[in-house]
Amino acid sequence: MINDCKPLLCSILPIYLDGIRRSMKIAQRLNSIPMSGIRKMFDLASPDSINLGLGEPDLSPPESAIEGMCKASKDGLNKYGPTAGIMPLRDAVAKHYSRYSPIEGKNVMITPSGSSALLEVTQAMIDPGDEVLVPSPGFVIYGPHAVLAGGKDVYYKLTDGTFQPDIDDIQSKITKNTTMLVVNNPCNPTGGTLSEESFKALCDISADKGITIMADEVYDSFVYEGKHISFLSQLDKAVVVGGFSKMMAVTGWRMGFVISNEKVMDDLIKMQYHVCASPNMPAMYGILNALPTIDDYIVKARETFRKRRDLIVKRINEIDGMEIIPPKGAFYAFPSFDYDISSADFAMELVKAGLICTPGSAFGPYGEGHLRFSYAADESKIDKGMDILSETAKRIRRK
Ligand SMILES: Cc1ncc(COP(=O)(O)O)c(C=O)c1O
Repeated sequence: MINDCKPLLCSILPIYLDGIRRSMKIAQRLNSIPMSGIRKMFDLASPDSINLGLGEPDLSPPESAIEGMCKASKDGLNKYGPTAGIMPLRDAVAKHYSRYSPIEGKNVMITPSGSSALLEVTQAMIDPGDEVLVPSPGFVIYGPHAVLAGGKDVYYKLTDGTFQPDIDDIQSKITKNTTMLVVNNPCNPTGGTLSEESFKALCDISADKGITIMADEVYDSFVYEGKHISFLSQLDKAVVVGGFSKMMAVTGWRMGFVISNEKVMDDLIKMQYHVCASPNMPAMYGILNALPTIDDYIVKARETFRKRRDLIVKRINEIDGMEIIPPKGAFYAFPSFDYDISSADFAMELVKAGLICTPGSAFGPYGEGHLRFSYAADESKIDKGMDILSETAKRIRRK
């Protein structure tokens, strides 16, 4: 009987599946966004590869953070919390950042990650048709977030070498629809930090044209030379996103924050209510237990990363045809190369040879000609990875 029905089933099934597919329509906004090139690269790697592709610290979180989270959970703090996060943590974040500006707890909202803070700010501030200026090479989610809000992603260049926002390029891309400019300082993937001059130029553009700056400062703990220049001093024109993922090596906890003036904050809290009701309660208590005394931990982590940065920069600059100016922040090296190969093909050759990194082309239209290496990995891994890079580069040069 079943066999008799087989031809019928075979002819009906595709029509049925096609119907389901069509009835479960995916939004065009999402369809227009490609999958991240970074993930694709990881999927192709063998398990024993050296992984310099990951954007997360390999350090352990502060013990006090873990204890605080476990205690909160054991004490029964497992229910929904206040939408903007628990007040003592909002106050502690304000205190930690008071070195840049006299902010208060009411200026801070705790979010379920820096990523979701970026999405919530974009959703709260972008209307269909608005244009968002996004850095390239830059972190991969800003452009898609603009598109998901119905806006348009417009990419501006970072300059070669020290990767400052190219002010002329920004000016030339501003239209009457430009409402937001994204700045990432310190920057992923370049490791660049904003100069005083760039900071002033961006503030002037924002003031002259009435463009809001969304400043992503999740790597503010990792500046190796000079001082971090924060948009926290400019809350009349900027909304600042930060996070604990990198600061405390708790990428899996999904904890971030946003800081804004009080007027904008009301709207951000409204947005967050409709996104998640409230952030993770035990994790907030964990962060709260560590944040007031976090400076020693950060100093040690920064020193660890600085040594690794010096090692990777030295090894890269020893390779013929590769070049890097020492990056001043975050934990990424973004060297340029002068070979006749695309960054995607170069990265693929490296994956085959046992080293995972990310091609510059994954970071928008101006990332080509570079590779990104994360040095949030121990020195022996960095050394082995650089041996593979050196050999592969030699092979590519000979071709
Ligand atoms: C520049 C930048 N911003 C934001 C984030 C988001 O971090 P999280 O969502 O872990 O807080 C990342 C993560 O890699 C990043 O590199």
